[in-house]
Amino acid sequence: MNATSFAATKQAWANVAREAARLANVKLQDLFADPKRVAALTFEAPHLIADFSKQRIDSAALASLGAVAQVADFDGLRAKMFAGEIVNNTERRAAMHWRLRAPDAPAEVKAVRAQMAAFATRIRPQIDAIVHLGIGGSDLGPRLVMDALRPLTHAGLQVRFAANVDGADVADAIEGLDPKRTLLIVVSKTFTTQETLANAEFVRAWGPAHLAAATAAPEKAIAWGVPAENVFAFWDWVGGRYSLWSSVSLVCALALKNNAFERLLAGAAEMDAHFRDAPFLANLPALSAAIQTWNREALGHGSYAAIPYAERLRLLPAWLQQLEMESNGKRVTRDGEALERSACAVTWGAAGTNAQHSFFQLLHQGVQEIPVEFIVNAGAQEGPPSHRAKVFANALAQAQALMAGKSEAQAKAEMLTKGVSAAEAERLGPHRAFPGNRASTMMSIDALSPEALGALLAFYEHRTFAQAVLAGVNPFDQWGVELGKEMANALLPALEGGAAPANADASTTAWLKRLR
Ligand code: F6P
Repeated sequence: MNATSFAATKQAWANVAREAARLANVKLQDLFADPKRVAALTFEAPHLIADFSKQRIDSAALASLGAVAQVADFDGLRAKMFAGEIVNNTERRAAMHWRLRAPDAPAEVKAVRAQMAAFATRIRPQIDAIVHLGIGGSDLGPRLVMDALRPLTHAGLQVRFAANVDGADVADAIEGLDPKRTLLIVVSKTFTTQETLANAEFVRAWGPAHLAAATAAPEKAIAWGVPAENVFAFWDWVGGRYSLWSSVSLVCALALKNNAFERLLAGAAEMDAHFRDAPFLANLPALSAAIQTWNREALGHGSYAAIPYAERLRLLPAWLQQLEMESNGKRVTRDGEALERSACAVTWGAAGTNAQHSFFQLLHQGVQEIPVEFIVNAGAQEGPPSHRAKVFANALAQAQALMAGKSEAQAKAEMLTKGVSAAEAERLGPHRAFPGNRASTMMSIDALSPEALGALLAFYEHRTFAQAVLAGVNPFDQWGVELGKEMANALLPALEGGAAPANADASTTAWLKRLR
């Protein structure tokens, strides 16, 4: 970074810090004195609405983050990504996952989609089950899509996933299936991942009638034994955690009816157009990235909870964890300089309402504030019609409770009205009080349709990119996963009867002996 941009960046962040100092001790509820607040902080994108009004932010603070985006060359980097230029500078690659769902996708992409469609038509009558083996980006996306769109699964087709190298996972995946009526899909960008290949070898030995693979290394899949015509390619310009739009989701193309996979891509393309064209301060993924950055960097919240109030989105937090933390869990900038601040918070979460009955206690009364992102499905819902209102009431109530809280005086007064003695009310007051003043975002998708799901997942991809731009990191590499893999390979022989590596530390050596 040259001296001028260094100074501009420093100044922009100083302005953000000044805005944060202005808002840090304000009561969230007091911000609603501005009658235009909800409208000013509610934004729309295809299939998605986000209300940031319960965040500790206002338009001036958002504008200060917009200024950071400007000095970070958000417009330039976004244009570079959509022009297919190299934005993954450490691996010297473009990041063109958006191209997989573009209406004018290149011929090679369309050819693989046609190959997938033809395979689907041919194979479906011959199978009752699909076993999908992959891990990380080769698992989480298609697993989430299948779970979210389960009602669109072709009748009578069982879909199983296994990722973990703990054998229980793959054993469960084939349990009760007839190998003669099963298709095994091995999904691995590199086709070298230890866990996936170990699982694939086990399932292949069980004797499934059909084998297919999705990979960016087709020659390796063919060498492993997948018939060439059943190998579905994707490309090194698709990062693993951005790959669900590719042949990685062959299982979805096979198992979902009503053209769901194509509709998923179309919904994502709608979000791509919004992200590509809208200016930062009217751009939902970018604004949401600004909020994430604000909470992490300006206000110092180390994590946030993503809580879909939709059972069919229960796997969203797991997919988001890889997307956000594998992308932005970095400690140096694109140029290799030490970061002055974190590029992302810890992502965690689970579906509501279940989460209310487990970790929401900590969100409401724990010492530290953890911002929450609520996602509801505003469209039709399955099951008993009367449940829909209850889901919404719970989501809205949790956001309201986090912000409003309940004072000790209020808690005591309530107890007294219920006939609790004054001494008991005094004793329980501190336990029954809620600090409140805790931030959240409320988002809705317009339906749990393939289109809306595609838009939602693309929204998160672009938010991750925008957050990386604000922080100055490359979100498209993941060198941090390598060291553990190398060490696992070095330790494996010792656990298979060989000697412990000479350079292993004493603790690891003791564990090798214990577990051998
Ligand atoms: O170890 C991390 C990782 O490389 C992820 O980035 C990737 O999604 C996953 O492993 C699986 O890799 P592959 O698709 O090559 O098997």
